[in-house]
Amino acid sequence: PPRRKRPSGAGRDGGGVRAPVGSTEAKPAGGPAASSLGGGDSRRRAAELFRWLVAPVEPGEFAGRHWERAPLLVRRGDPGYYAGLFSTADFDAILRSGEVQFGTHLDVTSYAEGVRETHNPVGRALPAVVWDFYQNGCSLRLLNPQAFSTTVWHLLSILQEYFGSMAGANTYLTPPGTQGFAPHYDDIEAFVLQLEGKKHWRVYSPRTDTEVLPQFSSANLTQAELGKPVLEVVLEAGDLLYFPRGFIHQGDCLPDAHSLHITVSSYQRNSWGDLLEKLLPAALQMALEEDVEYRQGLPMGYLEYMGVANSDAADARRTAFVEKLQRLMKKLVDYAPIDAAVDQRAKSFLHDCLPPVLTQSEKQLSVYGFPAQWQDGSPRNVDILITKDTEVRLLHHGIIRLCNEEAGVMLYYTTENSRVYHKEEPKYLEIDPEYTDSIEFLLSSYPNHVTVDTLPCGTLDDKISLATLLFEKVL
Ligand SMILES: *[C@@H]1O[C@H](CO)[C@@H](O)[C@H](O)[C@H]1NC(C)=O
Repeated sequence: PPRRKRPSGAGRDGGGVRAPVGSTEAKPAGGPAASSLGGGDSRRRAAELFRWLVAPVEPGEFAGRHWERAPLLVRRGDPGYYAGLFSTADFDAILRSGEVQFGTHLDVTSYAEGVRETHNPVGRALPAVVWDFYQNGCSLRLLNPQAFSTTVWHLLSILQEYFGSMAGANTYLTPPGTQGFAPHYDDIEAFVLQLEGKKHWRVYSPRTDTEVLPQFSSANLTQAELGKPVLEVVLEAGDLLYFPRGFIHQGDCLPDAHSLHITVSSYQRNSWGDLLEKLLPAALQMALEEDVEYRQGLPMGYLEYMGVANSDAADARRTAFVEKLQRLMKKLVDYAPIDAAVDQRAKSFLHDCLPPVLTQSEKQLSVYGFPAQWQDGSPRNVDILITKDTEVRLLHHGIIRLCNEEAGVMLYYTTENSRVYHKEEPKYLEIDPEYTDSIEFLLSSYPNHVTVDTLPCGTLDDKISLATLLFEKVL
């Protein structure tokens, strides 16, 4: 009978967690949890993928000289470099699936004689209509290829682990001799991967200091608003073009070739300022609670000597007012809950991001490899026999985050996310605070295994309960 206390499954999906079965007595553990150790380190795979993305430029050189600084052009002379990632044939097959909607998933665009237009009909984007637009010179932008293409999902999911920030993508198919978009800049770091054909690109430096690393994308710009390009190039299949947010760009097709590219993006709203937007209100909240100085009233009459109309007046009361305010603002630093604010950003990231791509070895070691099944009239191999000697580790780097919240200690996780942005609510388990140390221990031990009896929490039953819960949740 299921008697063991669970580490609580009070999260949004906790109700569905099955009670544990099996004995807590030490006996040889069965099933894949006890099979030969493995699983690898998912951080290494992410680093290798990024190395491939910018190769032959070294990631260190890219970080120092290009990231958020300057465009990078990589000519590879290898049309097959991205083979298997995404093709016009894949695009055609996706249209044939009948699941693509104009506007939501696909934009039909044109840019001719300085006029940028969107031609989306309403409803389903079926091949007959889509290819007719294309034949008439329109560009086709697929907005979330990761929802339709497994290889694009894999690419983005692994890159988001590298960036620690959501990675997105669009694909662009442009007919020969046309341009689909007006010149503009974006609010993301952009990696243009030329998949098929070629495209003529012009890239321009930010025009003013305020357009360096902008928080928001620009409007459609006119040619008259542009200076001279810093980079002009014909990108060919297998090549890479990177440019930071704020760099204006436009791409057009030569008369003799179509172009298919995918733009991979990351680092949208991922700046110091974005962290401060979370941190400062929290710091003020803490200061108001803990320090009476922040709760004392403003000086009587301050409306009379402060304000723009009085800003040029020489007045000792003004000086005192400003000095006091500056002191309170400096003191806010001491109240800033920096780690909690970072955890809140991590929590958002875990909700925004794509589900992780598990390797065969990770799948095999996880509950997906567990042999429970219906056989000959009844379920077989159902018991998860975790003992004190069972070797455990987190399945994959970055798939969980522990957050201390007012309502309790929450363990957020990504494994049940959807490939469609925010299709799922944030997934979490409420964890008994006594398990916090054990989860931190698992986090810091990754990628190494530890035995269940080394988990720093209560009784052996507690340790086994926690391990069983995390195993059942693919964590
Ligand atoms: C550019 O123009 C197109 C077509 O009019 C429009 O749909 C799009 O929103 C514009 N982009 C921006 C950023 O204003």
